[in-house]
Amino acid sequence: MKKRIQDMDVKGKKVLLRCDFNVPVKEGMILDDSKIVAALNTIDYLVKEGAKIIILSHFGKVKTESDKVNNSLAPIAAHLQKLVNTKVIFSKQPRSLYLEAKIENMNPGEIIVLENTRFEDVPDKLESGNDPQLAMYWAGLADIYCLDAFGSSHRCHASTYGVANYLPSCVGFLVQHEVEMLDEYVLNASRPFTIVMGGAKVEDKVELIESLLPRCDHLLITGGIANSCLATLGFNVGNSLRTKDPEVLSKIKNILIQYKDKIMLPIDAIIGRVYNEDFIEHVNIDKVEEDDIIYDIGMKTIKKYKEIIDNSKTIFVNGTAGKYEDKRYATGTRELLDTISKSNAIKIVGGGDGVSAVKYFNMGDRFSFLSTGGGATLEYIINEGLPAINNIEEK
Ligand code: 3PG
Repeated sequence: MKKRIQDMDVKGKKVLLRCDFNVPVKEGMILDDSKIVAALNTIDYLVKEGAKIIILSHFGKVKTESDKVNNSLAPIAAHLQKLVNTKVIFSKQPRSLYLEAKIENMNPGEIIVLENTRFEDVPDKLESGNDPQLAMYWAGLADIYCLDAFGSSHRCHASTYGVANYLPSCVGFLVQHEVEMLDEYVLNASRPFTIVMGGAKVEDKVELIESLLPRCDHLLITGGIANSCLATLGFNVGNSLRTKDPEVLSKIKNILIQYKDKIMLPIDAIIGRVYNEDFIEHVNIDKVEEDDIIYDIGMKTIKKYKEIIDNSKTIFVNGTAGKYEDKRYATGTRELLDTISKSNAIKIVGGGDGVSAVKYFNMGDRFSFLSTGGGATLEYIINEGLPAINNIEEK
């Protein structure tokens, strides 16, 4: 068992707290603050214990100097200030000469949020390359390291994994809760176990899909991932989002052949047209034309998936069925989530998009558990553990 925050003496100590504040933001507005709210148990506990809290988090992808402009953690630190009863300071750099002095001058129970850890990826990938000097630097700011970034625990980065090599370490309440829930509901899943997978990019998920398949009884595919699968089977998906990478396509083909009895694909779709914003039509999947774009699954697909859902004992949802933010293409995601939420199975949603959609349709309380992890949750199911959590001290 891993050391937990409640096993450590944090009173008056400097605690380096890794959170996952990688939340959806549009034009400076936070669209869903679930991941920040989920970290409050640990933050409030540390505030009450009078620790000085040094928060690290990544935000978005930072590959070039210009990526930094839209990926500052400043709006997130400002939002955190509204959720806690203590002062939140924001450090414009993830490391600087003045940071140690700033931390020394903090009062017990106050918080400092450091700028996006991935700023350290430009130009030398120090954060994502788990650079030991960088990990040592962050560790040097504190007395204790607490990992509470469940959604980033599949990353062996300096701020998630590396820092634990240089400080007494523990897991926060969010990581504890995620592990407890996923162990109970998913690792020991009652069968039949069905995974409903959607989302945009198949490239990010093809390997995960391959590893998940032996663990589940059914995989119901929707979203952009379904388009790539349909294309490999020779269906015309028109101008829909899909991968054209031959290596990925060939992997998908092999998976579809090997697991043909477990995998289901959409049989109908709601389409739009490239040059006509107002065009919307329901078609069978073999009737998609060159200029069409698949934006949602159709009701026939939902009906077909419902038969599997109704016979499942555990259902795990990752990703959405379509472009649900646009009312015209919301039906598939809404109806599928509604169908799942009404089944008698244990129902878990993992991943930012899926959780945001469940909240958008006000169905949060109808699910057994909403996980804050996306890729992390999928990897946890496959490997029954995650590298950053594994690197925390045993009790
Ligand atoms: C997530 O949003 O799934 C986590 O924050 C991980 O983000 P990443 O895929 O950019 O590492």
